[in-house]
Amino acid sequence: MAAPPKTVLHVSAEEEQAIREAVRTADLTTLGTGRALATEALAEATLDLLADPAVSEPIYALPKPVTLASVKAWIRECEDARTRGECLLILNTHDGHVMGYSKITVWPDRSAAELGGALRASLQSAGAGGAGAAHTIGWIFAALGVRMICLTAALDNVRSAKLIDRMGFRRMGERDAIRADGTIRRSLYWEMTADEWCTRKP
Ligand SMILES: CC(C)(COP(=O)(O)OP(=O)(O)OC[C@H]1O[C@@H](n2cnc3c(N)ncnc32)[C@H](O)[C@@H]1OP(=O)(O)O)[C@@H](O)C(=O)NCCC(=O)NCCS
Repeated sequence: MAAPPKTVLHVSAEEEQAIREAVRTADLTTLGTGRALATEALAEATLDLLADPAVSEPIYALPKPVTLASVKAWIRECEDARTRGECLLILNTHDGHVMGYSKITVWPDRSAAELGGALRASLQSAGAGGAGAAHTIGWIFAALGVRMICLTAALDNVRSAKLIDRMGFRRMGERDAIRADGTIRRSLYWEMTADEWCTRKP
């Protein structure tokens, strides 16, 4: 279960409503080709991605165990949250296969979002994750209008930590992340504001 950022921003009712509307009406074609909202029709292809432990094991915010039923329920839950303006579950598709996913959890009343995601194992460690994460972070700030993004990674997730540090996120200690099965995963924790993102040195 995702938790909102440690830092609390003051958010007006107008700003909160604007963020909810931006999430509900987000145009994924502006994020990139092959991007699609997750639907039940794509559940089997999504299961094919997530069934690989090299993809799903490092991620706390995924259904556990990963089965067709749990993936369908997860997709439904994300879609319900999307209609409230609080989530986007985005699949990166190619020739009917799901090559990766991004889950953007949004707290409109905190003007904040969290990004999590993964790539198919055959695409990992070749630079795609680092490039994709930076692109998606920029998109979240620009398209959804939030003022803060927080990220977490397992203490031993070296690749995630490197790419998050490289993007200029501020390390802010650790936190406990709660998995779907109720177990706790200790995580590294980072934040970045929209202003910091705009003024960072790429
Ligand atoms: C995490 C993930 C998205 C990163 O994407 P990626 O394409 O594999 O990573 P990149 O090739 O862009 O490399 C990211 C950084 O790790 C480094 N790296 C790559 N492979 C590495 C390896 N085997 N060991 C150590 N460092 C490695 C890269 O040099 C890069 O560091 P830099 O930015 O300082 O140059 C991807 O590996 C993945 O989907 N993993 C499984 C799920 C997961 O962990 N999701 C993230 C949860 S927070």
